[in-house]
Amino acid sequence: MTSRRDEILKEIGITPVWRLRVQESLAEAQEVSSEPAPPVPDTRALQPSFEGTSPVSHQTGEPSRVAAQPSALHGSSAPMLRRSAADDDERRAAIIRMDWAGLKQAVAQCVACALHARRNKTVFGVGDENADWMFVGEGPGADEDRQGDPFVGQAGKLLDSMLAAIKLKRDDNVYIANVVKCRPPGNRNPEPDEASKCEPYLQRQIELIKPKLIIALGRVAALNLLSREASIASLRGRVLAYRGTPLIVTYHPAYLLRNLPDKAKAWEDLCFAVKTMQSLQSGPSVTT
Ligand code: URA
Repeated sequence: MTSRRDEILKEIGITPVWRLRVQESLAEAQEVSSEPAPPVPDTRALQPSFEGTSPVSHQTGEPSRVAAQPSALHGSSAPMLRRSAADDDERRAAIIRMDWAGLKQAVAQCVACALHARRNKTVFGVGDENADWMFVGEGPGADEDRQGDPFVGQAGKLLDSMLAAIKLKRDDNVYIANVVKCRPPGNRNPEPDEASKCEPYLQRQIELIKPKLIIALGRVAALNLLSREASIASLRGRVLAYRGTPLIVTYHPAYLLRNLPDKAKAWEDLCFAVKTMQSLQSGPSVTT
């Protein structure tokens, strides 16, 4: 008889060949002490590079659109609220003092970048506001824009299966958010200006939640959280940090839907994350 766990592993594309390794990893994770988590074996040499090589959107597989043109930034009748670095600093200072209610309202009413003009709904984030685990994606797609919740489309289903495989649920000790709260048209990557206008919201969410561990889903989330250019390959298997909070990078579920063999690597990342969380829950900081 197939167990629920087998079904989940099948769902996320881990065949029985991987099962043994999975069980070993979890057993290892359960044994972890307060010692800092060691890095996972470096599989970079085996990993095909995908970062930056394809102009397709991670969400749809369709070609990414070109960057928003400056004219688009002024195409709305809504006032552009930010005009200078001083304004940005003032805005950030206001946002990082907000409580949950204020923050949710600020996001719902935000017109700080061009993305507001074409959104149906802002996508604030969902889950347990006291979660130990925080998963951060890139930005809403069409389904999320319609429903106002993150990761509700196909990629979201896979994310839910990935969570279930490590015994997590999106509303129990898990919070899910995105780098940008409004859908980039055509699911293109968020522009640097859009991501930076949204960053104080994410910063404040993280400050309020105080997660023990952040999982960056995909390259765009990783680069924005870490403020640096790097390949996913070079970031996986390490405990990094966002403003002092430990952070682990793995593949975006939408990428995994198109690149099934890499689900095994994502599984390694999840096992590493479980192990790291166990260290964090029982001991000192493990950031590198
Ligand atoms: N992709 C993301 O990065 N976030 C979502 O909410 C949905 C798809």
